[in-house]
Formats: sequence, C-alpha cells, structure tokens
Amino acid sequence: MRGSSPTILGIETSCDETAAAVIAGPSAILSSVVASQHDVHRPYGGVVPELAARRHIERIDSIVERALNQASLSLKHIEGIAVTTGPGLAGALLVGVTFAKALAYALRVPLIDVNHLEGHIASAWLDAPDFPTPCVVLIASGGHTHLYLIERPGSYRLLGKTLDDAAGEAFDKAAKMLGLEYPGGPAIERLARSGTAGRVMFPRPRLKHASLDFSFSGLKTALLYYLRDIGAQPEACPIADIAAEYQEAIAEVLTAKAFQAVRRCHVGALAVVGGVSANARLRTRLTQRAETEGVRLAIPPLRYCTDNAAMIAAAGQRAFLRSRFASWELEASATLSPTVAKKPGSSSSPLAAASRS
Ligand code: KG4
Ligand code: ZN
Repeated sequence: MRGSSPTILGIETSCDETAAAVIAGPSAILSSVVASQHDVHRPYGGVVPELAARRHIERIDSIVERALNQASLSLKHIEGIAVTTGPGLAGALLVGVTFAKALAYALRVPLIDVNHLEGHIASAWLDAPDFPTPCVVLIASGGHTHLYLIERPGSYRLLGKTLDDAAGEAFDKAAKMLGLEYPGGPAIERLARSGTAGRVMFPRPRLKHASLDFSFSGLKTALLYYLRDIGAQPEACPIADIAAEYQEAIAEVLTAKAFQAVRRCHVGALAVVGGVSANARLRTRLTQRAETEGVRLAIPPLRYCTDNAAMIAAAGQRAFLRSRFASWELEASATLSPTVAKKPGSSSSPLAAASRS
C-alpha cells in the first residue's frame, strides 16, 4: 500500500562505499548499512575506480540483504527503490543503478533516481525533521563544495561553489603530502588533535572575497611549498601543528562563507553536510558561530555525514511522494551536475530543476 510514508530501499554506490538503507515513516530509518572499501584503496592513496566497481559487485547483494534484515523486513515490504545515479565514478554508479533497476523490475515497484548531492542535502533532515526552510546548505565532500539556498523543499539555488579542489579533496591531497593514510580528512583530524594551529601560518583562500565561491588549491600549494622549504629540517615544525593549522584554515573558510551566505540570503537556518562535516573542528566552529548569531544549525550525526544510503532513501521517499519516478531506461551519469537542467518533462532531479527557475 502506498501511504504517506512509503517504505523505500535506498542504494548508494557512487564512490567507495557500498550502502543500502530502508526508510519507512518520515525520517524513520529502519536500517543503514555501509560497507567501506577503504582497505581496498588505502595502498594506492586514493580511490581506484576499477577496484571500486568490482568491490561493489561483490558486495551489493549481501549489503541489501543486511539492510532488509536489520529493518526486519523482506523484499515484499519494499514500495520503491531509490538509487544514486550520479555524480560519481561511472563504473561504481553503474553497479548500483543496474542492481536497483533489476530489483525494481522484478518486484514491480517504482524506481527512483537520486542525485548524490540531493542525497547529501536530505541528510540534514534525517535527524532534524523539523529543520526549517528557507535555509542555506553547505555540501562539503570529497568531490564538492557547494552552497545552496533552499527556499522551500525541492527548490535549490546555487549560491557558490569551489573554483578548483573540493574541501575533502584538499584534506585528502594534504594527507598524502604529509605521508598519512587514505582517507585524508579523518587522518588529518586525528593528527591535529595533538597539534596547535597558528604555529605555522597557511592562507585562508577567498576569506574576504565578496563572492560565495571557494578555492582550496592555493592552500594545498602553500602546504607543498612549506614542506619543500622545511625539507632539510623537519623538526622546524611538528607535523601535528601543520595538520592543525591546515585543518583550521579549511574550517575557518567553510564557516565564514556559510555564514556569509546566511546573512546575504536573510535566512535563520544553516545545514552543513557531506564527509567534511564529520570534522570535529569544523563542527565546533560552526556551532559556536551559530550560537553567537542566533542561527539554527543542522549537522547530521557522523554516520550520515559520509556517504550512506539513508540519505538516498530519504531523498527517494520525497520524490516518491511527488510521483517523480525514473524510467527503465535510467542510466548512471558520472558527471550529473546539480546545475544542468534536464529537458522539461523528463524525470529531472529537483537540483536540476532549480537551475531552470
Ligand atoms: O561525502 P563523502 O563521504 O563522499 C563524497 O561524496 O565525496 O566525503 C568524503 C570526503 C573525503 O575527502 C574525506 O577525506 C572527507 O570527506 N572526510 C573528512 C572527515 N571525514 C571524511 N574530512 C575532514 N574531517 C573528517 N573527519
Ligand atoms: Zn558524498
């Protein structure tokens, strides 16, 4: 039966996490299973697309089964299947899309395409169903650093984005330079705990710039030059202090731009989502600033910051309620852009639709 809160199976395979989740009531997450592939990619210092796709193939059916078991449901209870169609790694996405298509066809339930970024945005409401709109959302992940104004549910306006590296990418590349393991964000955060920011100074790119765009490649280059210059005397600055300052620079810029957007849009609510929102220093800065400025802040619990399928199921549930279903011709799109409008009449993502308005 299609009720007001359909039971949706979400599937996410856009990068190096094989994930499945079941959502039933509004934000009632019955299960969320995430199988990380970090062990596969760690020896290479980054995600190897071919290996990611292969591991998704090996795991997808057992992950979906675990998600159903944890939800104490069987396939016959599933009313719709939501799957990430992009952006992401082509081969990795294809595994999820093909699996979801076949399962939806076999079960005779609707298939729902979800833009990965729309999934991250939906994660803001997983733990805070009463979080208001209009609000500003900052997505800070491995592939994206995007600021959106959400005027009402499903209506997105891009305010600014990174002109080069994403915030997570800046963490990952710096970790590599510092000889830390993949993924770099958590590794830098761990190291930074025993360091002090400010003992070495790195730039805060575009901090004072009026535009809401970001840039992190200069910060990465500053670290590169700094490491080159102290090469002969590594004792010049403990690596933990370098990590702490680098983390501080990213956290300061993200916080400043997010609140700049809040002020400019005259809204009282800010959500920060995506893998980088798991960073404790960033969370502290955002929380302190929100308290000072009287802004309502939503940051997902850690398990929903990095890639997961609960956020895909949640975005899929909303699409289901608007009868926005995908056709059986659905394809994965590695470069699916949140700002590229699809043809009117096609089953476009609300993120895409926003660019038409
Ligand atoms: O959202 P996500 O899981 O995948 C993408 O959509 O990209 O984000 C992954 C990114 C990686 O760059 C990773 O280093 C970063 O999020 N990340 C962190 C932390 N946890 C994950 N960055 C800083 N601090 C963290 N604790
Ligand atoms: Zn992501």
